[in-house]
Amino acid sequence: MSKKAVRQGRYGVDGPGWLLALGGGVVAPLVAVAAGAPRWLLRVPPLVAVPAAVYLHASVRGKFLVWEEQLDALGLRGDEEVLDLGCGRGAVLTAVARRVPKGRVTGVDLWRTVDQSGNSERAAARTAAREGITDRVALVTADMRQLPFEDATFDLVVSSMAIHNITGARGREAAVREAYRVLKPGGRLLVADIFHGARSLDVLRAAGAVRVRRTDAGPRMWWSGPWIRTLLVSAEKPAAEPDHGDLDGERRS
Ligand SMILES: C[S@@+](CC[C@H](N)C(=O)[O-])C[C@H]1O[C@@H](n2cnc3c(N)ncnc32)[C@H](O)[C@@H]1O
Repeated sequence: MSKKAVRQGRYGVDGPGWLLALGGGVVAPLVAVAAGAPRWLLRVPPLVAVPAAVYLHASVRGKFLVWEEQLDALGLRGDEEVLDLGCGRGAVLTAVARRVPKGRVTGVDLWRTVDQSGNSERAAARTAAREGITDRVALVTADMRQLPFEDATFDLVVSSMAIHNITGARGREAAVREAYRVLKPGGRLLVADIFHGARSLDVLRAAGAVRVRRTDAGPRMWWSGPWIRTLLVSAEKPAAEPDHGDLDGERRS
C-alpha cells in the first residue's frame, strides 16, 4: 500500500515575511512605473519572480516530496514513537504518522506565525483531523531547546526547517543535543534545515552519535535559489550494549 496520499490539510507557507518581500519585489516596480517612475525598473520583476517562484515551490510542494522520499528510505516498522521538533502545521508530522499506524507521533512547537503562516496548535490539530491521523498524534507546546521528555523516549526524531529559526548558536546546539538525548539507543535522527548543518554534525558527534551524515536535499528545497539550500543531517544513537551481567556471573561460578 502506498504511504503517499493526496494532502487534505492546510500547511501554510514557511517564512511568510520572506515570500512577501519577494512578492513585493515583483509588484512594487510595476506600481512605481505606473505612477511615473523610470521604466528601467521594469527589469526588476522578472529577476525577482524566479526566486519567488522557487521559494514558493519549496514551501508548498518541494519540501513535501523530499520528506516523502526520506521517510520511505527509513523503512519504518510502523510502531515507532516519533518526535517532530518544530512541527508547525504538520507537514512532516502527517507524513510520518501515515507510516506508523501502530505508533505515535509527538509534535513540539511554539507556534510562531513569523516562521509559518497561520501557525497554531489548533491549525496543526485541524490538519491531523483532516488527514485522519488524530488517533496517533500528540501536540505539545514546548521549546525544542528544553524538551519536556525523559531521556531515551523516541525511536525517531525528525525536524524540518525549524532549528535555524532559533536565534543564537547556543540555542541551536541545545536543540540538537536535546533531540539526541530523547532518542532511544538504536534510535535515528533526521533533520532538514538551512545554514547550520555543519555545526549540527559536530554537536551530534560530540554527543556520541554514529552514522552522522549530511547530504544536500537538492533544488526542490532551494529557498529562492542555490544560495539557500537545505541540508539533511542524519545520525543514529548507538544501540545499547548487550547486558553481560548474567554471563559474567555464569563465568564466575
Ligand atoms: C518554518 S516552520 C516549519 C514547520 C514544519 N516543520 C514544516 O516543515 O512545515 C518552523 C517551525 O519551528 C517552530 N519553532 C521555532 N523556534 C522554536 C523553538 N525554540 N521551539 C519549538 N518550536 C520552534 C516555529 O514555531 C515553526 O512552527
